[in-house]
Amino acid sequence: MANVTVIGAQWGDEGKGKIVDWLASRADAVVRFQGGHNAGHTLVIDGKTYKLSLLPSGIVSGTLSVIGNGVVLDPWALRDEVAKVEGQGVSITDENLAIADNCPLILPLHRDLDGLRETAAGKGKIGTTGRGIGPAYEDKVGRRAIRVCDLAHLDTLEPQLDRLCAHHDALRAGFGQPPVDRAALLEELREIAPFVLKFAQPVWKRLKKVRRAGAKILFEGAQGVLLDVDHGTYPFVTSSNTVSGTAASGSGLGPNSTGFVLGIVKAYTTRVGSGPFPTELEDEIGQGLGERGHEFGTVTGRKRRVGWFDAVLVRQSCAISGVTGIALTKIDVLDGMEKVKICTGYRLRGKVYDYLPSHAADQAECEPIYEEMPGWSESTAGARSYADLPAAAIKYIQRIQELIECPVALVSTSPERDDTILMRDPFVD
Ligand code: GDP
Ligand code: IMO
Ligand code: MG
Repeated sequence: MANVTVIGAQWGDEGKGKIVDWLASRADAVVRFQGGHNAGHTLVIDGKTYKLSLLPSGIVSGTLSVIGNGVVLDPWALRDEVAKVEGQGVSITDENLAIADNCPLILPLHRDLDGLRETAAGKGKIGTTGRGIGPAYEDKVGRRAIRVCDLAHLDTLEPQLDRLCAHHDALRAGFGQPPVDRAALLEELREIAPFVLKFAQPVWKRLKKVRRAGAKILFEGAQGVLLDVDHGTYPFVTSSNTVSGTAASGSGLGPNSTGFVLGIVKAYTTRVGSGPFPTELEDEIGQGLGERGHEFGTVTGRKRRVGWFDAVLVRQSCAISGVTGIALTKIDVLDGMEKVKICTGYRLRGKVYDYLPSHAADQAECEPIYEEMPGWSESTAGARSYADLPAAAIKYIQRIQELIECPVALVSTSPERDDTILMRDPFVD
């Protein structure tokens, strides 16, 4: 199994970026296949921090980085990110970055609509990242999107732009907003086009070549299974499929290409934005975890909600996404806790559930059933071998493995790239 697909198995921010970067030096290409700059992936290498939103996490190690067709691409955000990362000494050229020419664009009108809807929803808002992700995916599915390849045909874009803008003008009117200024939008597209086109190509072809040569492809998921538009806590989800199967459709390779599915799992649970969260801790324990884990969003800076490990959710995610093995991250954040709890089931109106029911109201009412385990006073921070972990931490990891019915392949013990314990090599297994 040469390829590896990394996905988040909770509500995002599990540490995907760190693990992708760690694996990237052994891969020949790193491919983003869904989401957009709603993602925030943090890499720490020798004390230097890189925050990536659209760029695949392979970019820092110099691995060929590919933005697949399943991504929604904000060209201005991309340009800013490229400038920022180049400012940190990373070289980004058309040699190491490729963008699918059939990738739909996120335009300023998408960001407007995202914001208008969230404001109008008041308390019922999704808590989106405000990046225009949902509206851009709607236009893709509605067959109105402007795509990367359209940037090479701006002189004939008018009818397409008219169709898109007519749709948005009607929506904007409902919010009391003026119509889209088509001329200004076309001008903005003209200005950004050369920057994006430099990287644009049919990436499926490039990846086919990479694959034929027997090279290793690392797929980098964004968000997490519980934010998947089908399988997540709908409607409090993102607007793409975040499950492993999307790696194929979102990059232009077949389903037999995804290889080892590595689910990234935080040793506790976090969520940013609205929606059900059965094990949420709104007390000082949660506050302590949030502080020790620096649980603030990479993209929006919002405080992440924090809770105990939920084995029901992770078991469900692993099943839905065909996870081969997990990487358990941030175990060090639990250091020093007297007791740790794991959710093993839910109680809902007198019945016990071993899965999360589909309806939002049921999800909101699920009461967690906990199993309690002793914590550990020793430090796991920076441990690089399984034998260095305290016995109680090993028991916790083993219990998680049992409950989620999936083996642990990696354990991460700090934000640093090399503070990682390898138990089962995803590129070999
Ligand atoms: P992603 O969206 O899944 O890539 O995760 P984020 O980067 O948004 O959030 C994970 C945060 O945890 C980042 O700040 C990482 O640097 C940090 N992190 C990753 N792994 C570990 C770990 O094992 N221990 C600790 N303490 N922090 C970690
Ligand atoms: P990474 O890749 C955590 C959440 C938002 C909101 C919902 C919908 O860093 O794990 P959207 O802007 O996508 O329409 O917002 O999804 N969300 C994330 N939460 N990590 C992410 O990405 C997220 N991307 C989106 O907070 O609840
Ligand atoms: Mg993140």
